[in-house]
Amino acid sequence: MITIQIYADAAAVAKAAARLVYERLAEHEEERKFLLALSGGSTPRSMYAQLRDLPKVAELLNHRAEIFFSDERAVPPDSDQSNYRAARVGLLEPLNLKSEIVHRLRGEAKSLEAEALRYEHEMRAVAEIGDTEVPRFDLVLLGIGPDGHTASLFADHDWRNSERKLVASPFVGLKQSHRLTFTLRMLNAARTAVFLATGADKADAIKKVLSAEFESDMLPARRVEAAETIWLLDQAAADKLNPDQARGTIKRC
Ligand code: 6PG
Repeated sequence: MITIQIYADAAAVAKAAARLVYERLAEHEEERKFLLALSGGSTPRSMYAQLRDLPKVAELLNHRAEIFFSDERAVPPDSDQSNYRAARVGLLEPLNLKSEIVHRLRGEAKSLEAEALRYEHEMRAVAEIGDTEVPRFDLVLLGIGPDGHTASLFADHDWRNSERKLVASPFVGLKQSHRLTFTLRMLNAARTAVFLATGADKADAIKKVLSAEFESDMLPARRVEAAETIWLLDQAAADKLNPDQARGTIKRC
């Protein structure tokens, strides 16, 4: 199920995303931990600033959540390119979250292939499932690039080779660098995937991903369909989306 929520501007999207994470955490009453995956890029930073100001959010995260990352660059954790660093500075440190609930993708690993496997094992251990099962994340946060990539799944991704994996370590030709990323199998096993997209530079990708047409031009982000997929857009990013052509229900907020 795809739902599309359109907000006036990026600040409203950040606020809505923070509220969504907070509410899902607060509603989580089950014994098992709430599996949360943070996304990379710059968009989440304003969401982190909103989330960290919500009441008792540190307590909720520390007691209920296990925090993972849906992708990472092949850089050390203190690099300004690191998705982990952005989360550490914007959310983890300000809230003083317990280190044991934060599971970093080690972009500095000598073998990214080995790190991808290590991370799969860590996810299964935390999710308390067997070696053949796929962890079902409660909430995976994602962004989208102007070219329609998401996480580190780009147009040149080797889909066949990664279809059985949970974490892949592709060389991204478009970035001339390696990445670590959740695979489609991992993303589509999630209970909820939430895309944040703001700005006019995302409008073409949003049109191609969220319009019923363009089936042939299968951009990576279009391949993501979790049990529930929510798109949080600002008006600028939604500007080229024809509501009559949308692949999901549209709500103007
Ligand atoms: C990354 C991301 C990537 C990102 C999009 C959007 O590591 O770069 O995971 O998929 O979410 O490129 O990035 P912005 O939020 O900076 O537009």
